[in-house]
Amino acid sequence: MKEAVDRLVERLGGLAPTVAVVLGSGLGSLVEDVENALRIPYAELPGFPQSGVTGHAGELVAGMFSGSPVIMLAGRSHYYEHGNAAAMRPAIEVLAGIGVTTLILTNAAGSLHAEMPAGSVMLIEDHINFSGANPLIGEASDRRFVGLTETYDADLRAAILAAAERVGLRLHRGVYMWFSGPTFETPAEIRMARILGADAVGMSTVPEAILARFCGLKVAACSVITNLAAGMTGAEMSHEETKDMAPIGGARLAMVLKELLKARLDG
Ligand code: HPA
Repeated sequence: MKEAVDRLVERLGGLAPTVAVVLGSGLGSLVEDVENALRIPYAELPGFPQSGVTGHAGELVAGMFSGSPVIMLAGRSHYYEHGNAAAMRPAIEVLAGIGVTTLILTNAAGSLHAEMPAGSVMLIEDHINFSGANPLIGEASDRRFVGLTETYDADLRAAILAAAERVGLRLHRGVYMWFSGPTFETPAEIRMARILGADAVGMSTVPEAILARFCGLKVAACSVITNLAAGMTGAEMSHEETKDMAPIGGARLAMVLKELLKARLDG
């Protein structure tokens, strides 16, 4: 951890971002808006995940975004790649270690509402961990008992909603349900998810949100809707569709994040 922190601080050369953004499937193009981008492959940062999912590059990009210094993590490790829910722990600890105080998580997700179709963006207000996994299993200290009553910071959520309003985007709000993947859900699981209170389903984000809270970071998360969930249209789900559709909502989310970061988010 210390080695990765020291290496990153050295590479950043005085840039001291307090905000980091994790880019989900198909959202990697956000890094194109980072000015004077410094790109560091995860392979050069000890402990950072080596992701194997297509649509995830696996590099840290640092620079100025909308006038604020930011770090973007292009590529995340998913639980379904290896069964390790804590795979992002070193990366998140390193971010906290270099002074990041706010983590914005993004993902591609399936929608449970016909009125929230592909291309929509949903602000995650809360989550349901349906995976049975938790990144803090095995953590030996009492720090593991993290309260998740307000996982997604209320002030940050309000700031994101206000930014969306300023750019004229209708931002949906809802509950994200984490399924382990890598299979997509069955129609019966989607009916269950709806009964249980979910608005969108996906295979990521929840472990990082838990880890970020564990590290004392403020968290916000947004889903880019790439499809209506299984059984809602009759069409089969596919990762191709996720990758094809993510840039549409991704461009909308990029507008919101640019607006959000115009005003410096203080720690
Ligand atoms: N289910 C789970 N994960 C997803 C989906 C989905 O329908 N779409 C994009 N990621």
